[in-house]
Amino acid sequence: MFGAQGLFHQEEAQLSLNIDLIQRVFEHAKPLGHNESPADLNLGFGFLYYGLVRALRPAHVLVIGSGFGFSVTCLALGIKDNRKGRLSFVDPSYSLIKHGPFKTIGGKDNWSDPETVRAHFARFGVEDIVTHYKMTSREFFASYERHKLSTIQVAFIDGSHAFKNVREDFLGVYRHCTKNSYILMHDTNIYIREMLKHSGVKRWLKLVQDKKDMFEAVDFPFDSGVALVRVRRKTHWEEAP
Ligand SMILES: C[S@@+](CC[C@H](N)C(=O)[O-])C[C@H]1O[C@@H](n2cnc3c(N)ncnc32)[C@H](O)[C@@H]1O
Repeated sequence: MFGAQGLFHQEEAQLSLNIDLIQRVFEHAKPLGHNESPADLNLGFGFLYYGLVRALRPAHVLVIGSGFGFSVTCLALGIKDNRKGRLSFVDPSYSLIKHGPFKTIGGKDNWSDPETVRAHFARFGVEDIVTHYKMTSREFFASYERHKLSTIQVAFIDGSHAFKNVREDFLGVYRHCTKNSYILMHDTNIYIREMLKHSGVKRWLKLVQDKKDMFEAVDFPFDSGVALVRVRRKTHWEEAP
């Protein structure tokens, strides 16, 4: 793609985000609560996920929880266009109908069969970038070394939204990330579920925002909301908030 002088050769260039691809993402990765609008092919926060990966060029991205793979796809497309990096996707494939509202809201049991998972991500050309782990985030972090995974530079947390799980997921990421890693937390703006204590994303974010020596955080309180947290300091995980 780049010539001897580092010049961009347009005829060889392949970038993912074209109209056809964006339409496919809306149809099959079904964003919900990411400030998206299909009418004008606006992926909303999806552009932020893609752009963050393009800008930071992470070697390892982790996603915890996804209904139809929207976050996974946008992040993986960034990796694909960077021509460098891997994405680990952790989801036990809970479904609202089978497992009930305390295990998942919006989960559709889409990640049960490895062939189907691969075919799903092949729609967007990212099947060789994404590795799915069909397990809970707790099981994933417990087996992190066994899977020989490298440190995380970008993470997206969207699994169980119960306060104790959001906390556990954040600390799991924190233990395996580097200084200046970025952690995205989805659903910071679901006021009613937060009020009913069915979700604790915002509550956890406030604790993180109070630890100014350790984290720098900005919230995007639009639609379901997403927060972006930079890890300023790595310390022993038990000392984390
Ligand atoms: C639909 S998504 C995103 C949540 C949704 N945005 C909401 O409002 O609650 C939830 C996904 O998280 C997954 N999930 C639930 N508990 C999990 C856990 N402990 N570890 C990893 N993924 C989990 C479910 O299987 C489901 O696919």
